[in-house]
Amino acid sequence: MEIRLARKYGFCFGVKRAIEIAENSKNATTIGPLIHNNEEINRLKENFNVVTAHDISELEGVKKAIIRTHGIVKEDLEKLRRTDMEIIDATCPFVTKPQQIVEKMSKEGYQIVIFGDIKHPEVQGVMSYAVNKPIVVISVEELEKVLISPRVAVVSQTTRKMQEFQKIVNFLIARANEVRVFNTICNATFENQDAARELSKESDVMIVIGGKNSSNTKQLLSIASEHCKESYLIENEKELEKEWFEGKKVCGVTAGASTPDWIIEKIISKIREITV
Ligand code: F3S
Repeated sequence: MEIRLARKYGFCFGVKRAIEIAENSKNATTIGPLIHNNEEINRLKENFNVVTAHDISELEGVKKAIIRTHGIVKEDLEKLRRTDMEIIDATCPFVTKPQQIVEKMSKEGYQIVIFGDIKHPEVQGVMSYAVNKPIVVISVEELEKVLISPRVAVVSQTTRKMQEFQKIVNFLIARANEVRVFNTICNATFENQDAARELSKESDVMIVIGGKNSSNTKQLLSIASEHCKESYLIENEKELEKEWFEGKKVCGVTAGASTPDWIIEKIISKIREITV
């Protein structure tokens, strides 16, 4: 069986940057998981004593705190800045951008619409920058149930699908007098998604590697599944099952933006081992 890697996969700029920051900040505590990849979080803990707190209430006695790639809510950041703790900001600049847009546009009186998952830490952070309560939706169906103001500014969670964002924008344009559209979907996600789509069309089985709590990895799985029915999301090589590969000619491999190369290499070696 041939194993083909997507032409673009794995670590994005924001995650690479956050990991470098963590490696250079030994003995620090991150607020929430630095990235959505448990294996990498464990490596940082073992090698650099970078540990994870659930939220800012667990930071008592901590001297150095790292803000994760997804950012944190504005009030928490302000609280931390009033302490004497060293604050190291690893928020991805592509996440800082929608935070700033939401703050500015809401101050200018626009109704903020955020296309994204309200439970995701990135979205919760972005929401907290709005001066008025923002509308957060994951689909046009949800948007149909809310009252739209005449002046609207819309942003997207960085990891959403472009086509879905366009549907939200089209809906708003037909209903509001003025719609300011900010394309805040990050290119890294976009490139990994395009490459996964391309590869899934020519694969008999697709292995998507990444954290099961990672939004961009789940998006990759959903895209891969559209063209390749046998697509599987795994975090490590122990989850591979021999039968997935039986009778298959091409196995496509892709990985989410927070998946390090060492995990990808381990999984590829294991696929080779169980398919000989
Ligand atoms: Fe940033 Fe995009 Fe990665 S938002 S963390 S560069 S997926």
